[in-house]
Amino acid sequence: MPDDRLKRKLFGQKVGVEELMEIISLWNLRPAAMKRLEKIIRKDFRKTPHLFRYYVPAGFPDKVREFEELFAKKAGVPFALAVNSCTSALLASLAACGVGPGDEVIVPAYTFFISASIIVTARAIPVLAEIDETLTLDPVDLEKKITRRTKAIIAVHMIGRPCRMDAIMRIAKKHKLKVIEDTAQACGGSYKGKFLGSFGDCGCFSFDPFKILTCGEGGVITLKDEWLYTRCQSYQDSSACWRPDRYAKERKPGEIFCGENYRQSQVHAAIGIAQLRKLDMIIRSLRENRDRIIAGIRKSGKFRIVPSADPKGEAGTSIVLMFNNAKEAEKAGSALAGAGISSGRLYSPRLRDWHTYPYWEHIIGKKTITKEGCPFTCSFYKGKLPRYSADMCPRTSDILGRSVAIWVSPAFGAQDCRQIAEAINTVESCPKGIPSGNVKS
Ligand SMILES: Cc1ncc(COP(=O)(O)O)c(C=O)c1O
Repeated sequence: MPDDRLKRKLFGQKVGVEELMEIISLWNLRPAAMKRLEKIIRKDFRKTPHLFRYYVPAGFPDKVREFEELFAKKAGVPFALAVNSCTSALLASLAACGVGPGDEVIVPAYTFFISASIIVTARAIPVLAEIDETLTLDPVDLEKKITRRTKAIIAVHMIGRPCRMDAIMRIAKKHKLKVIEDTAQACGGSYKGKFLGSFGDCGCFSFDPFKILTCGEGGVITLKDEWLYTRCQSYQDSSACWRPDRYAKERKPGEIFCGENYRQSQVHAAIGIAQLRKLDMIIRSLRENRDRIIAGIRKSGKFRIVPSADPKGEAGTSIVLMFNNAKEAEKAGSALAGAGISSGRLYSPRLRDWHTYPYWEHIIGKKTITKEGCPFTCSFYKGKLPRYSADMCPRTSDILGRSVAIWVSPAFGAQDCRQIAEAINTVESCPKGIPSGNVKS
């Protein structure tokens, strides 16, 4: 057993210098720098931090609250709720919107599979809709897929590209549907000058390491409606630490239910705050690099640059070339990869990838956690199940099969952009290129 002095040093502070140094070690500093830092920190160490997002004692920083306030301001909405991932943001949003057994939710056939599978997790029926050439939800097909059982639409701003939010919101209003914007891949993007994620009832963001901002793992839900915000809070912390009086009786029916624990920690929020400060700069650099590359692409070739619902609002993480057929896309994809360009085909029957619906075996195979097969077999569901198959959205497969994405980094310099444009120019030889343009929504 350690002596009393050591015990006091080790356990007097529940989270002390050792834990902070462990976090700092993630940044791979040299051992000598670590030693110097530890010395300074030990000398100045005052009190153990409060890492839990609720019950923050006076005089302690509340990073989660600060992150939420900064994010809400940036998005131009009254409420932002920090959670631990975009997956949990989506599930909490569906729960808050009252989606459950018997309901259908429409989702585009091109998105990371989570946007669709989370509907099954919420015990509702996912209905897949086609994308159009903007690579986002096609409003025409969306409206065709609406039935009496449709409760919500998940609009996904894929690879930094805004959905046609005017049309989607118009349809949602007409049919009285909730709109959840999956903004995991487009944080900082906008549509007609308005922050993506601020159009619908809930905007869901991801801060996993592959997104525009990251804090390792994390998410945020943006909201305009206080009641939905309350229900999201209830879902993300069913232990009810979020409530003004934790164990008090329900203030309004629907406030309390069996939810989850999706709380964000102060450590993640602290990183999120620093990241958020860089957002404008990141988006500016992405757009500048995207424009530099596009400016260098010669306007003749086998491809055209896919149109955008709002070119100015794109987050700028991608430029997508659309070829006349999949074979040409495959050839160009290989040539670009061979030239060391960060790029990729958006769909190929030979390339397994959970961003395209033909590979969503979770949905197509109606895979569920337990054998009875709910929600697909749920007696509350009175509709006609979609005929899930790997070719149920042929337009989406066709568009994606002919597309090659060039991934843009904010770290590119002018020379990188020139090289990328040159590599693109050398893979094509087609008659007429069509410049990137706006499309009517
Ligand atoms: C479109 C989309 N939605 C949701 C998610 C899930 O995000 P998270 O990893 O934060 O749960 C992702 C992650 O890749 C995504 O790309």
